[in-house]
Amino acid sequence: MSTSSSPARVNTPVNAYTIMVAIVAALGGLLFGFDTGVISGAMLYIEPYYGISNDPNTVGWIVAGVVLGAILGAAVGGKLADAFGRRRSVVVTAVMFAVGSIACAYAPSPDWLIAGRIFLGFAIGIASCVAPLYISEMAPPQIRGGLVSLNQLMITIGIVFSYAVDYGFSTMAEAGTLTQREAWGWMLGFGFFPAVILGVGMLMLPDSPRWLAAKGRRDDAERTLKKIRGTDNVSQEMAEIDESLREEDKEAKGSWSELLQPWLRPLLIVGIGIGVFQQFSGINTVIYYAPTIFKLAGYESDSVAILATAGVGLFNVIMTVVAVFLMDKVGRRPLLLTGLVGMMISLMALGYAFYVKDTSAGSDLGAIPVICLVSLLLYVGSFAISLGPIFWLLISEIYPTKIRGLAMGLATMIQWGANLAVTQSFPNMIATLKPFGTFWLFGGLCVAAWIFAFYLMPETKGVTLEEIEDHCRDGKPLRKLGKV
Ligand code: BGC
Repeated sequence: MSTSSSPARVNTPVNAYTIMVAIVAALGGLLFGFDTGVISGAMLYIEPYYGISNDPNTVGWIVAGVVLGAILGAAVGGKLADAFGRRRSVVVTAVMFAVGSIACAYAPSPDWLIAGRIFLGFAIGIASCVAPLYISEMAPPQIRGGLVSLNQLMITIGIVFSYAVDYGFSTMAEAGTLTQREAWGWMLGFGFFPAVILGVGMLMLPDSPRWLAAKGRRDDAERTLKKIRGTDNVSQEMAEIDESLREEDKEAKGSWSELLQPWLRPLLIVGIGIGVFQQFSGINTVIYYAPTIFKLAGYESDSVAILATAGVGLFNVIMTVVAVFLMDKVGRRPLLLTGLVGMMISLMALGYAFYVKDTSAGSDLGAIPVICLVSLLLYVGSFAISLGPIFWLLISEIYPTKIRGLAMGLATMIQWGANLAVTQSFPNMIATLKPFGTFWLFGGLCVAAWIFAFYLMPETKGVTLEEIEDHCRDGKPLRKLGKV
């Protein structure tokens, strides 16, 4: 089978139904973004309410509980998706998101809140791997990059949406319409609404044809394919799915040991590597700590620092929209390599601004706050067209059907682990390496990520999932994928 995209595949029909399927599933991303972002504003009310302002341990657990839960969720999410189906797994996470939101909103104690946050994180961990996986398997190859990147777009929208929800309820608290307790309850509970939409929406959608075929439900698979492609002429795509499943080990049950087959190794290395670099490039120090960074850079007022943070969040959304449109035109590799250069330059500039600030004697900061804002915008914009969407997209494309969930779960779990490591150590890094050293270190890690991506990142634009599998099974270098 050819490794280039054949003309017939490029003409796979695209219909509104497929796009709607992707949007509904991507609500999992919205909840991912919302539940990670909402806590920053809510903590302003939770800390005094529980009197835990001087208890960094409890505060840390309330904030980072979702990340810990996500590591655990990702560990089981893939296995769940392989065993019970992509659709059912997303429905289960929607129920968990709804229950977790209410549990956090009504939390009677900090311990309860921590448990609720870990539970929500568990749902995030599952959704973060199953939603892109489902979209990838439903998408026609020529727009798969854009559709899977909708999930990343929803993550970024979820983050900004959480800032807006925090802002809305905090103004109501300030106006006296809500008590402080009610305000943070509403903030955390608000995730209930998108969770219900996700659950009800997913109940109305079919499972992916690839998963159905892998489970021996060939007729269901064909019926679904006809529906999502809007045509009865699906014989070629069905034949490719059949063929790839024939080639996959008949005994394959999706066990951990199967992941260690030699031909899968490069795929695991690239998926896990890009995930670790996504986090080690420091993105969540900006997403979670942007107001602190702005204050360090000399923004004296809290509200201006928060406004600048909102600007960074919005720019993240805008540039992710650009990524959605470019992903299938420009391709994954050029976007990743270009974005990494942008991240590298901006981190160096950010470090330099802090270096000048730290070493200059005078109190006049000159252009430093402006350089800081511009660098952070360039950094987040570059992330949004590269490491942000491309990690999730890549791991949803490169693994064979029968172990796709498991392999994605593993890469996702390690990526969440890397997230926890970076975000937990950031305050210490700032104290020991100083801000300039910290950002230069992240910049150096972007150089390493660039070299890694240059040698290992495959181009999966326009190539079918089955062609990707064939290429790797034949032991051909990943970098040659997508080249005629
Ligand atoms: C990352 C998250 C990050 C978000 C920011 C996602 O791709 O996995 O850790 O917070 O992008 O946009």
